[in-house]
Amino acid sequence: MKIIIGNWKMNGTRTMFENMTKIISQTKTSNRVIVCPPYTLLYSENNGIPTGAQDISTHDNGAYTGEISGQMIAETGAKYVIVGHSERRLYHNETNEIIKQKTTMAIQNKLTPIICIGETLDERESNKTEKIITNMLENCIPNTEHEFMIAYEPRWAIGTGMTPTPNEIESVHNIIFEYLKKHNHETTSILYGGSVSPSNATAIAAIPHVDGLLIGGASLKPDTFIPIIESVK
Ligand code: PGA
Repeated sequence: MKIIIGNWKMNGTRTMFENMTKIISQTKTSNRVIVCPPYTLLYSENNGIPTGAQDISTHDNGAYTGEISGQMIAETGAKYVIVGHSERRLYHNETNEIIKQKTTMAIQNKLTPIICIGETLDERESNKTEKIITNMLENCIPNTEHEFMIAYEPRWAIGTGMTPTPNEIESVHNIIFEYLKKHNHETTSILYGGSVSPSNATAIAAIPHVDGLLIGGASLKPDTFIPIIESVK
């Protein structure tokens, strides 16, 4: 059983979401499939498929125009929230400190945070991957016994069609696993994300300590998402 999460980013219509969740609900799989559409679709018919948001405010409520709180997300019935996605880090200047606050807000509202971490190509090429990953783990995870997930998403692999080699993925997942084990979080699921497609999903999901996949582009169409859900074991 693997966890397969679709991150729709700023894509999708109500029809697309209702259609996709209906098809997923009719697909035979033992995998746990979760769809994270834009906020506005969280109240749409989800056909029993668990949903998540893509971001969460650091505040409970108040004068924060455009923000959505953990309570509001939980009220939609969503059970998950992606925090610290590299697009949030890059375009909205989210720091590890902010991501830790968002993770805390998710937990306070009984949502399961999916905390994204990953290095840039520069960092990988200058052998800083381990340092960056460890630093993100140290600074994004609050002191908690609540369930959370870690998604390893190398920034350079997102939406580019490039992926690390299986050995590179295994090595980073191992670093994450050892860190979590040391901090009494050894049951935490570790996902891989970045250019997952029907042609590489099965192989990536079979790498040691890959408990699931976080999928962007390929999660938008049943033609690409369903084969992944069906083939990953
Ligand atoms: P991608 O995105 O699968 O389109 O590379 C993954 C993500 O950003 O979560």
